[in-house]
Amino acid sequence: MQKPKILIARAIPPAALERLAGHFDVEANQADELWSRAEFTERMSGKDGAFTTGGERIDAELLAACPRLRICANMAVGYNNFDVPAMTAAGVLATNAPDVLTETTADMGFALLMATARRISESEAYLRAGLWNKWRYDMFTGTDVHGATLGVLGMGRIGQGVARRGAHGFGMNVIYHNRSRLDAQTEAACKARYVSKEALFREADHVVLVLPYSKEAHHTVGATEIGWMKRTATLVNIGRGGLVDENALADALGEGRLLGAGLDVFEGEPTVNPRLLALKNVVLTPHIASASVPTRLAMANLAADNLIGFFSGAGPKTPLNPDVLNRRA
Ligand code: GLV
Repeated sequence: MQKPKILIARAIPPAALERLAGHFDVEANQADELWSRAEFTERMSGKDGAFTTGGERIDAELLAACPRLRICANMAVGYNNFDVPAMTAAGVLATNAPDVLTETTADMGFALLMATARRISESEAYLRAGLWNKWRYDMFTGTDVHGATLGVLGMGRIGQGVARRGAHGFGMNVIYHNRSRLDAQTEAACKARYVSKEALFREADHVVLVLPYSKEAHHTVGATEIGWMKRTATLVNIGRGGLVDENALADALGEGRLLGAGLDVFEGEPTVNPRLLALKNVVLTPHIASASVPTRLAMANLAADNLIGFFSGAGPKTPLNPDVLNRRA
């Protein structure tokens, strides 16, 4: 019997590639070439399945060119690169890679919070530039993390991980806002209090954004929300770049209306808004929140499990549109 044909859109951990090669006729991209949309479509057109990594847009136009396609497995928890309704309409299963990256990503949210509050990047750049020649009482004074108020916007699994770290590790007063309020048990585990979006921005000393991106969530944080924040507050974004109006943020950071920001994700990534690059009070990392060696391997293996489970009949582990499976059954 012919093996299903799979496209792996980007370089992946070799162990995951080896597993996939044992089950499928694989077209891999270990050279990690960045294909144009036309080239990607062309390569996808004869495939039964795809391993995607979050940057490849799967929409009606692409699906129309790929009549054989039955599944796209994202090696990311976020799936804003998928038009899920279009995939469902085309009978194509979508899967993502949740859970395995929760704690690693929450670690990074906290790392950015601390680096921003304590001005780690800015002070390191100063030291490396050879500018440090004496101690001074107010040199790189920042703001405290312990005991401060942490506001988590988006209280899914990762948001809860950030909240738990703040509440239990740093004695923070945790408030959160979410589309829907959590049950009392989960709130208690995170020691988190539900507040309105406006109250969150007004009360928090440190705001962490962990919500998924959708058109509706575009610029969830703009000039109005930033205007609500304390001048001494920090903002961290480990969700998606489009959640924040970067120009409004750059205005506030440049004018001293906000202490600092820690950003792992950007609107036009991998291009970063030059206004952010020019600011000292922003910590910038290249979308690495889930980037620990074991977690990236676990994410790749989960995407591989989804492909293998789907084609073997055992079933995918983390389907986003399981209706497609029911329809095929
Ligand atoms: C990373 O951004 C992810 O969605 O997994």
